[in-house]
Amino acid sequence: MNQPRHYLQFKDFTREEYDYLFGRVRWIKDKFKRYEPYHPLFDRTLVMIFEKASTRTRLSFEAGMQQLGGSAIYLNTRDSQLGRGEPVEDAAQVISRMSDVVMIRTFEQDIIDRFAANSRVPVINGLTNEYHPCQILADIFTFIEHCGSIQGKTVAWVGDANNMSYTWLQAAEVLDFKVRVSTPPGYAIDPARAGLAGGGHFELFDDPMEACRGADLVTTDVWTSMGFEAENEARMKAFADWCVDADMMAAANPGALFMHCLPAHRGEEVTAEVIDGPQSVVWDEAENRLHVQKALMEYLVLGKV
Ligand code: CP
Repeated sequence: MNQPRHYLQFKDFTREEYDYLFGRVRWIKDKFKRYEPYHPLFDRTLVMIFEKASTRTRLSFEAGMQQLGGSAIYLNTRDSQLGRGEPVEDAAQVISRMSDVVMIRTFEQDIIDRFAANSRVPVINGLTNEYHPCQILADIFTFIEHCGSIQGKTVAWVGDANNMSYTWLQAAEVLDFKVRVSTPPGYAIDPARAGLAGGGHFELFDDPMEACRGADLVTTDVWTSMGFEAENEARMKAFADWCVDADMMAAANPGALFMHCLPAHRGEEVTAEVIDGPQSVVWDEAENRLHVQKALMEYLVLGKV
């Protein structure tokens, strides 16, 4: 059995592969906008496994596979045998004999790593507690669309040490840009968790305003997962000064973008003025999940075309 390529972390691909992939995203998106059918994955099957809720990830993968000519099957851990004790290695063997590519959203990176090690087909990380590479792929394509190459540019991360911030750190190293990170006391990032080679592509700041100074992109994420707000009052207090507002955007470079992977809480991690304002590109960012994932599935299933 040939070992398939997987996409489990941002650093799984090289810079050369990302250059190729972003070119494919541009081509696929332009074709989609012209209503020109493109079916390179005709008759192929995507299995999507969701252990956590999703709107964007499910829609973009399911619609994306259909638009590429294939079909998508949704499984979750409530109404399948997944999550009822079947070893993940066994599930991987079975599912990968009936499909051409698998997308998994689960809690632990270890689960997706074990699934991939036993899969005959490519496995894509649709979000774990550790990483969210598909989202950062869309974010960087969105940056390129608006501002050109991200190489040498500066991204300010304001907020939590979560799967998004760790993936930004990986992306900065692969694509050679800087990330200025500001997290509240007690919520600091652990650079070792990002598995970096150590190229000095990030700086840590106590003050979120300082992190934003001179940035080309300011980005954040929810402080608490949607639906879990009541359990996180302490976090809400700790993060109160890490709400991205007009002053932080003013500290960034003129023309800086604002991004948020969504869903968002206006008035918590970002003011309505910023997320609904002229520097915000959150709708382009959300739409681009569709286009980047089509290019990603094409690349993993067919290689370079
Ligand atoms: N940004 C993101 O992954 O959205 P969903 O949780 O809706 O998939």
